[in-house]
Amino acid sequence: MKVTVIGTGYVGLVSGTCLAEVGNDVLCLDIDPEKIRILLSGDIPIHEPGLLEMVRRNVAAGRLHFTTDVDQAVNHGTIQFIAVGTPPDEDGSADLKYVLAAARNIGRKMTDYKLIVDKSTVPVGTGAKVKEAIADELKTRGKSIPFSVVSNPEFLKEGAAVDDFMRPDRIVIGAEDEPAILMMSALYSPFQRNHERPIVTDVKSAQLIKYAANAMLATRISFMNELANLSEALGADIEMVRQGIGADPRIGYHFLYPGCGYGGSCFPKDVKALIKTAHDDADITLRVLTAVEDANDVQKHILTKKLTHRFGDLKGKHFALWGLAFKPNTDDMREAPARIVIADLLAAGATVTAYDPVAMTEARRIFGDEPRLTYADAPMSTLNNADALVIATEWKEFRSPDFDTIKATLKTPVIIDGRNLYDPKFVRSMGIEYFAIGR
Ligand SMILES: NC(=O)c1ccc[n+]([C@@H]2O[C@H](COP(=O)([O-])OP(=O)(O)OC[C@H]3O[C@@H](n4cnc5c(N)ncnc54)[C@H](O)[C@@H]3O)[C@@H](O)[C@H]2O)c1
Repeated sequence: MKVTVIGTGYVGLVSGTCLAEVGNDVLCLDIDPEKIRILLSGDIPIHEPGLLEMVRRNVAAGRLHFTTDVDQAVNHGTIQFIAVGTPPDEDGSADLKYVLAAARNIGRKMTDYKLIVDKSTVPVGTGAKVKEAIADELKTRGKSIPFSVVSNPEFLKEGAAVDDFMRPDRIVIGAEDEPAILMMSALYSPFQRNHERPIVTDVKSAQLIKYAANAMLATRISFMNELANLSEALGADIEMVRQGIGADPRIGYHFLYPGCGYGGSCFPKDVKALIKTAHDDADITLRVLTAVEDANDVQKHILTKKLTHRFGDLKGKHFALWGLAFKPNTDDMREAPARIVIADLLAAGATVTAYDPVAMTEARRIFGDEPRLTYADAPMSTLNNADALVIATEWKEFRSPDFDTIKATLKTPVIIDGRNLYDPKFVRSMGIEYFAIGR
């Protein structure tokens, strides 16, 4: 099939590449010329395991192309995926300007039938707005060309995105016309050879499924973070509590890890947007999610709170920071807890030396030439002259460090672990003061 993907970010690039991998003829469009330049030069603009090889393979096979040319992009695909960003607006609602701009471009240029697939995470009701925007452009042109709009939310996880797309645990298609459902089912059939058919819903339900899924996961995290703080205050160990409750199949073990708050490009903005949609469009207050968000905002300061508790005034102190990305295997720092840790420490008059296997370029872009934030090229090199080591991301390479070297290099042997990477008894037995989350 001929497919255009509009928006070549984390979702667009992975989706486009995986669709090419199974034989489709895919053209990816972006308005960011730098992204397209990088892609045309044979590289990729993000860190995502397995993606670079797959992009190169499909480009070489002539099935995957990149462009900034809107005419070419609209002309190419019968299926037009919209995978642009939907960042939070000032009031927390999802900002639809990129989605609607993409829709208008299609309406302005299309000359034959198009199936427009909204893959961006958008509030219930956006399907109708996309339809309106395209119809409006066609009307201005005095044209009557058939088109369908369907919702196909994406559930991939950064860091495992290629695998998630190639072997999805679900494919949700929100559509109300039969030909569109058939075409979508055919497009996705190579990805679900061992699975049931796609979950076909109405457009609104598909959009709500995506928000509900992220809101549920965020809720589990905030719930565990609050219980971790309680465990700590009461002298219990949240890790034992986690195992004890996870054994109940109604609860399960997934997503029960306490930490220093959830971040990333999705949970924070999607929780906000759902609260806002409920309030504005249905006059309903989502009390649980409001609390989930509040708890997360507090949790993102937990590492600084622990440092202050241990050291008192942080002015003039220097800290080593392991991990900048919001989670391992990505360079994405959107809403990453490490950003709050760095901001808190700099505001308190401390300095930081950070290490992350892939996100340091992104950190440099975010923090510019802030002189109080420096970077090291290896985890152990961050430790010189540091008063303590702070861990904000659970990269595999942090899991089994040389504790003797850590102890010998730090000015005071203190680890503040926002990801519960180590056995507290073991680390403490090495003569290190160890502060984790809820243990
Ligand atoms: N990142 C994830 O893990 C993830 C997972 C599931 C769903 N989503 C959702 O998918 C959507 C995209 O997320 P992302 O992380 O890929 O965003 P992103 O910011 O990485 O990429 C969006 C891209 O769209 C481009 N763009 C904007 N307007 C355009 C236009 N009119 N024409 C062409 N390109 C345009 C931008 O330049 C950017 O490269 C969001 O709605 C997000 O909530 C993201």
